[in-house]
Amino acid sequence: KNLVVLVSGSGSNLQAILDACEQGKINGRVSAVISNRPGVRGLIRAVQAGADAITIDHKLYASRAEFDAELSRRIDQYQPDFLVLAGFMRILTDEFVNRYVGKMVNIHPSLLPKYTGLQTHQRAIDAGDTFAGATVHYVTPELDGGPLIMQIQVAIAANDDALALSKRVLAAEHALYPQVIQWLCEGRLTLAEGIAHLDQKPL
Ligand code: GRF
Repeated sequence: KNLVVLVSGSGSNLQAILDACEQGKINGRVSAVISNRPGVRGLIRAVQAGADAITIDHKLYASRAEFDAELSRRIDQYQPDFLVLAGFMRILTDEFVNRYVGKMVNIHPSLLPKYTGLQTHQRAIDAGDTFAGATVHYVTPELDGGPLIMQIQVAIAANDDALALSKRVLAAEHALYPQVIQWLCEGRLTLAEGIAHLDQKPL
């Protein structure tokens, strides 16, 4: 399967996906990585893995709609089977999202529906939660609100700070996201009537 990955920064989840493709753990390849920020590490990771590395600087566009139109134009040139958001820090227009419903997934560093948006780890610590974690979900127009696919829990220690916790959650993300993407590539994961379905593996 053909994957296009959107990033805005470091791209450590992208790297986990690229490595899984390389190791045959994902039956797919990343044909292009698109960043809305120039010069980020995620673009370097793309080049090193032999994927096209594309920058579409959102600051050069007058509106969200114009940026999203260019973004989808570039994505569609690759005709991806799936669109993977991996630390992509831009809110997308409904028009863009609706174009890829059922084909676009995101990873969010909390146990959704808790803590949409930013500062998720600090908010979990402040609330006295005993578990943080990460969620992979289909993307729908509601921010961080699309149908859940899979979550991973990470215990919060008594003396945890947001930085230490975020590192452990990120490591967990690197296990979670490639697994979900492999399910997508195998055709086992589908979205129907607003719910994610995982088919059993044939015996
Ligand atoms: C991750 O914590 C992810 O959950 C969130 O943004 C971060 C991206 O990190 N959406 P990286 O760029 O993959 O290292």
